[in-house]
Amino acid sequence: MNATTPAGAEVAARAPEYVRRIAPYVPGKPSEELAREYGLPEAAIVKLASNENPRGPSPRVRDAIAAAAAGVTRYPDGNAFALKGALAARYGVAPEQIVLGNGSNDVLELAAQAFLSPGDHAVYAQHAFAVYPLATQARGATGIEVPARAFGHDLDAMRAAITPRTRVVFVANPNNPTGTWLPASAVKAFIAGVPRDVVVVLDEAYDEYLDAAQRSPSTGWLVAHPNLIVSRTFSKAYGLAGLRIGFGLMHGAVADLLNRVRQPFNVNALAQAAALAALADTEYVAESAALNRAGMSALTNALEGMGVAYVPSHGNFLLLQVGAAAAVYERLLREGVIVRPVANYGLPQHLRVTVGLPAENERFLAALKLALGR
Ligand SMILES: Cc1ncc(COP(=O)(O)O)c(C=O)c1O
Repeated sequence: MNATTPAGAEVAARAPEYVRRIAPYVPGKPSEELAREYGLPEAAIVKLASNENPRGPSPRVRDAIAAAAAGVTRYPDGNAFALKGALAARYGVAPEQIVLGNGSNDVLELAAQAFLSPGDHAVYAQHAFAVYPLATQARGATGIEVPARAFGHDLDAMRAAITPRTRVVFVANPNNPTGTWLPASAVKAFIAGVPRDVVVVLDEAYDEYLDAAQRSPSTGWLVAHPNLIVSRTFSKAYGLAGLRIGFGLMHGAVADLLNRVRQPFNVNALAQAAALAALADTEYVAESAALNRAGMSALTNALEGMGVAYVPSHGNFLLLQVGAAAAVYERLLREGVIVRPVANYGLPQHLRVTVGLPAENERFLAALKLALGR
């Protein structure tokens, strides 16, 4: 029996309607899958579909994982004492203000779980990260999608969309998949204008890729704004996407709430050890950001030469306007290059490509030239 048999359908029909209406998250296509489907050698596939760090983990992280492997018969430290201590020192907060997540995705879910009930509203921008509507719908709450301005968040319109029913506002800075970014002054003014009983989830998954002067000072706003949750991840510049670890910084009373709805052991022991090593390896993060900057310039220069329009990006990825995106995506797959279709973000003419290693970027550009016939 499988999920499509009548009996299974009957069981599924018993779930709340708001759960049944959720459109599943569509991840980037795994390299193994493309290799299977197209009979390509896996080593020849270039995956630029999930905004991962193309360098592989730092040697210090590999060592930390190897050392921690001996302890995996034990449950991890559910309170992550060592890692929270290091994060507290880095961000100038108390350990009690930190909530760890199984990826920052988990932190976004925990915020939704703690604050949204059926009938509540959550506000987010058009073309914003797909998990905001998912986390909202899974609680039976209503998502209020505010039209984007030049692909980015229209903060004035988002402020105007807040009503007495609004419990949570999600802001991605930079945003995925558009790469748009708002200066700290604009975000700070927005937060100051949000009623104090509405939670602002400020998702800064790509902060480490910003130029030094643009890096977010948001953790300094926590004292004045107890309704602020800043979420960060180890998946991107730190290179740990496969281990699933991220964190949220917030007022202690808010952290206490999120910790109550969190699974006691949501972050595994290897992830905790790896994150602790990764946090200390500032050189690796700086090198990753520099590699990304160089790759971004190489890509944007080549795209300009090809006459392909793109949205200037502050992340480790780029949103390109390619016309019939589904066909271009398929053509790229045949060349062994995986990018990300974004029709589910309301962007059927665009594709998102992650900045890879120099050779990967070149493979992508050559394949795109073929696909577009330029
Ligand atoms: C804006 C944004 N926030 C959060 C995440 C979640 O990442 P993770 O759960 O790996 O930390 C992503 C992942 O792509 C993202 O793009």
